[in-house]
Amino acid sequence: MRKAVSILLLCSTLFALSACGTGGAEESAGGGLKDTQEALSEESEISENIAKTESYTGSNILIAYFTWADNTNVEDKDAAVQSALSHYDSVGDSADYDGVDATTSASVLPPGNTAQMAEWIWQRAGGDLFSITVTEPYFSDYDECLDRAADEKAENARPELVNHIDNMDDYDVVFLGFPNWWYTAPMAVFSFIEEYDLSGKTVVPFCARGTGGLAASVRDITTALPDSAEVLEPIGVYRADITSAETAINEWLDNLGFVVAETNSESVKERKLRMIVDGQKISITLYDTPAANALYDMLPLDLNFEDFNGIEKISYLSQELPTEGEPDGCDPAVGDLCLYAPWGNFSIFYQDFQYSDSLIMLGHIDSGMDVISEMEEDFRVTLERVD
Ligand SMILES: Cc1cc2nc3c(=O)[nH]c(=O)nc-3n(C[C@H](O)[C@H](O)[C@H](O)COP(=O)(O)O)c2cc1C
Repeated sequence: MRKAVSILLLCSTLFALSACGTGGAEESAGGGLKDTQEALSEESEISENIAKTESYTGSNILIAYFTWADNTNVEDKDAAVQSALSHYDSVGDSADYDGVDATTSASVLPPGNTAQMAEWIWQRAGGDLFSITVTEPYFSDYDECLDRAADEKAENARPELVNHIDNMDDYDVVFLGFPNWWYTAPMAVFSFIEEYDLSGKTVVPFCARGTGGLAASVRDITTALPDSAEVLEPIGVYRADITSAETAINEWLDNLGFVVAETNSESVKERKLRMIVDGQKISITLYDTPAANALYDMLPLDLNFEDFNGIEKISYLSQELPTEGEPDGCDPAVGDLCLYAPWGNFSIFYQDFQYSDSLIMLGHIDSGMDVISEMEEDFRVTLERVD
């Protein structure tokens, strides 16, 4: 039998405290309090208590999510961020936004809020990440994006998706992430749900939201799923709280019975490396994976780095690293060391980036990341083991 969450659970997520108390959908998204209360009360009618006795492992988990930043093309970064933030100002929560957090919360630039939540779920529970993207990207101007999203909701549209999953049968658990758009999930999330046979699967919603809470999103998703799908307790995180939500997400996963994925646990063998740049020492943790182990065997190495797209510093290795047994891709954060398998280059990410196929995680910079970020020209490094 399908299980949905109660209204109490919807409002009881740790971060709901900051905004769920208002009970209303975001004013900016129109409609107001009444709509949301109606939606929530309808949701409570389909509610039951949630079973938390099962335990889930990473091998059969898919983490699919929609986030605005992966579904727009930003030409004028400042204008896009300002249009989002001025919008937040108008709903009276501008106090939550300043400096880096302001830019992050605007969510028009990667990583989107939902993408950030997805990454933390992946780090804890394992599985495969999948970003739901539409063939026609949304506007990067907040008001124009709102308008199109409103039209799509009114028409109950099903936007066409770019990427598709060939092996959905392999997954028993599907995390489904989305922002609250107009009191529900973006219509592309329904395109995703309807594309696959999700019968019998365990679906775990997670939502990045504004002041409107989860509104009718979980109810609408539950309705769109086959009856035999089981919907577990969702988590909703208010956008200004996203950057500090990792602990709450881990607790939520623990409560649902998700075990820490083996590849992400502390039992994994890790080694320390040292990178010397301009006489400055950078400390690195190298993971225990086939590609990382092969890199370890090649050390010490002298490498030339160049900038790539203002996001990563890259260096071409003289030897190919093995990729068999590695995940299909990864979602790099600042400080991650990766191999981009098709080009054979080693990458240090100094900006957050989206999930990318064929990108293999090798390790992480523990300290000295600012040295790399501040390099304006090409530079040469020595990479060596710390015994
Ligand atoms: C088109 C659009 C509609 C939105 N509608 C709502 C809404 O009805 N209620 C709400 O609380 N937040 C609303 N928001 C705010 C987003 O839910 C929130 O900023 C979220 O954190 C964005 O996540 P993302 O970065 O993954 O896209 C809307 C945002 C956009 C762009």
